[in-house]
Amino acid sequence: MSKLKKIIEFKIAADGSSASGKTTGCYLISKKLKMRFLSSGLLYRYCALKILENNNFYNFKLINKISKSITLKKLNNKKLFTPEVAQLSSLIAKKPFVRKALKNFQKNFINSSKLVVVEGRDIGSKIMPKADLKLFFTCSVKEKAKRRLKEFKLINEKVTLKQVEKALIKRDNEDVKRKISPLIMVKNAVLVDTTKLSIKQMEVKLINLVRDSIKKKYGNL
Ligand code: C5P
Repeated sequence: MSKLKKIIEFKIAADGSSASGKTTGCYLISKKLKMRFLSSGLLYRYCALKILENNNFYNFKLINKISKSITLKKLNNKKLFTPEVAQLSSLIAKKPFVRKALKNFQKNFINSSKLVVVEGRDIGSKIMPKADLKLFFTCSVKEKAKRRLKEFKLINEKVTLKQVEKALIKRDNEDVKRKISPLIMVKNAVLVDTTKLSIKQMEVKLINLVRDSIKKKYGNL
């Protein structure tokens, strides 16, 4: 793996429901293998935050303006993780003009390096249909709610486990049932069920998957 730099190109597309472990998993892959990493949900969250700051008003023009102003630095913002932002991000993600406006940033990111990992809902299907490896993360709702509650506590959000579970189910339903770019597991994706895995176990599993996939593409490095 240390010889990964010799690899010409390897791109990973990951999708999955909210709190399924995809952000943590893909972050760990990116650190270990020195790949550039994008959590595409942050783009939708960023637009949602800006809309909330704009008294809930938004239109095509505003979204275009916001999307052009996005930088990776701006995506590093605790305010993006409140329950209000999460809920609104999934509502605006149904709008074709929002998805279209955010596509550019994602395409530029993918082309910015030969080693990238991007996670979201439509990455394997729409954003990186030719990815070298596609992952699909899943996890039980109970476990997901526990994980999200822990994260909310870190940012001092006062919510109960039941409220978190309800909000997760609602958001996942919206993501799966929407007409445009719904959350789906594409045919050639590898299923990663993180329900019973510790972070370390997930990391080992993912690195092995990536290693096998690189071997398939380039042989023993
Ligand atoms: O992954 P995260 O929870 O940060 O995503 C926030 C919301 O953004 C999701 O609920 C989903 O509606 C939307 N999203 C999307 N397509 C992506 C990434 C996120 O529709 N590729």
